[in-house]
Amino acid sequence: MPGRLVVFEGGEGAGKTTQLERLALRLGRHGAQVRALREPGGTPVGDEIRALLLRPGAQIPPRTEALLFMASRAALMQEQVRPALARGEIVLLDRFFLSTYAYQVGGRGLPEDEVRHANAFATGGLVPDVTVLLTVPAELGLSRAARRGAADRMEQAERAFHDRVEAAFARFADPAWQAAHSECGPIVAVPADGSVEGVEERVWQVVAAACPEVQG
Ligand code: TMP
Repeated sequence: MPGRLVVFEGGEGAGKTTQLERLALRLGRHGAQVRALREPGGTPVGDEIRALLLRPGAQIPPRTEALLFMASRAALMQEQVRPALARGEIVLLDRFFLSTYAYQVGGRGLPEDEVRHANAFATGGLVPDVTVLLTVPAELGLSRAARRGAADRMEQAERAFHDRVEAAFARFADPAWQAAHSECGPIVAVPADGSVEGVEERVWQVVAAACPEVQG
């Protein structure tokens, strides 16, 4: 059976990590082999890059920032994601290059086409089977993220930056945007306000439709 790549995306405090963990447990109960990974990180070099990218106060120019995310991604693809897919596992990935489009293109204002090319270099053109885009209003998301404790370098960015990131995530739900970005694969927006269980159910419907073999 071919492996599947399921990506979770969304702004700060959208609940990606919680929902990814719940989905992993549920898939496991259906007998699927699941590998949960996150970006940036997931490899020895990726974990070091993550620490650098998120360190409060680190001065990182936008193009350097984009390339560091890509560098972590390239290692994760080669060392974790592609081998897991080859073994037929379901890979659940907490963020992928929609985050780069949101934060580095939308937020930092880098040229989309150049970022797209750099991303293709990093991923070798791997396209997710489905991306679950969790949507919450920026206000709610940032207040949830603030409750998690000390803000990292990205969370500390100015409010206008986060507004641009949020506006970018909102565009990804648009079928016209998706049609123009086939490198992202299918993206399904899932409203992430309301109960954790309710969101889990909506996520399950999306993933079960994309991976019919796991419904058992
Ligand atoms: P998180 O996954 O713990 O939320 O932290 C990752 C941070 O890095 C988050 O603020 C989003 C940001 N990010 C980018 O800016 N670009 C990217 O390509 C990725 C994967 C994450």
